[in-house]
Amino acid sequence: MSRADASPTLTPAPHVSVMAAETLEALAVRQGAWYVDGTFGAGGHTRLLLERGANVLAIDQDPAAASYAAALRRAGLPGQLRFAVGNFRDVESLTAVEVGSAGGIAGVLFDLGVSSMQLDEGERGFAFRHDGPLDMRMSATGESAEDVVNDYSLEDLAAIIFRFGEERHSRRVARRIVEARAGGRIQTTGRLAEVVSSAYPPGPRREHPARRTFQALRIHVNDELGALQEGLEAAARLLVPGGRLVVLAYHSLEDRIVKQFLKDSPRMSALTKRPLEATPEEIEVNPRARSAKLRAGERVNQ
Ligand SMILES: C[S@@+](CC[C@H](N)C(=O)[O-])C[C@H]1O[C@@H](n2cnc3c(N)ncnc32)[C@H](O)[C@@H]1O
Repeated sequence: MSRADASPTLTPAPHVSVMAAETLEALAVRQGAWYVDGTFGAGGHTRLLLERGANVLAIDQDPAAASYAAALRRAGLPGQLRFAVGNFRDVESLTAVEVGSAGGIAGVLFDLGVSSMQLDEGERGFAFRHDGPLDMRMSATGESAEDVVNDYSLEDLAAIIFRFGEERHSRRVARRIVEARAGGRIQTTGRLAEVVSSAYPPGPRREHPARRTFQALRIHVNDELGALQEGLEAAARLLVPGGRLVVLAYHSLEDRIVKQFLKDSPRMSALTKRPLEATPEEIEVNPRARSAKLRAGERVNQ
């Protein structure tokens, strides 16, 4: 069964969009203008744009998102919807193909990371809490987490876990992985979580011992930080003067890149000196919003 076939029930959408009102305000939504949602997911943010009469090019690297786009199209909302499977680092070429010269792009949204559907489907292999094959790819291609965990050297594994997981026990975790795989390939999320946990010194802890290693592998497998840097630069080139770039980041590595980009880019002027965060009321009903940081910038006229 393909991933698109395996998508879950469509209504209600299982992913609850984060900071929806703040996102719409930062995008300065205008009826009839074109926006790019580079991280379509279950289409929650796109739906709100379409309801306001804006047109949307929706992009997601996960082919499973296509069924959510099809459902949204059937809803008959006022704005036009185009959907493309692809990486937002290629936003310029995707826009040229899908929107052409239909006028400039008035806003770009990146709501980073994985969706609740990706996390909750054990078979996608993102979560240490759900046992499944060790995959972690958002797109259908490329090296999987299983390849990385079983084929990389101890040094490379330790570097990935340290850099992308900010894990202070990175060497100890990498060494335990290398020892464990000598007894047979590590093929499931459950087995990896067990191996990583066994590398941790005993004692009370605030988070699951595998959380940082899983985050590191996911970021590496999907080249998330490389895609973000390229996507931001491409979005800035694409926007019309006065156009808005809005990014929702969920951990400090992503947020640092966005903050630095808005500070350094000659094409952009930051609209958020400090990132916006979700209200306690939103966090209460959607715990995923707890770590969200929203930054926005405006394309300068040059
Ligand atoms: C947090 S979810 C987005 C949820 C969406 N805003 C909503 O309201 O339903 C992130 C989505 O972005 C996709 N994604 C992450 N990085 C991407 C990239 N570089 N290019 C394209 N899609 C990406 C993931 O596959 C996932 O579906």
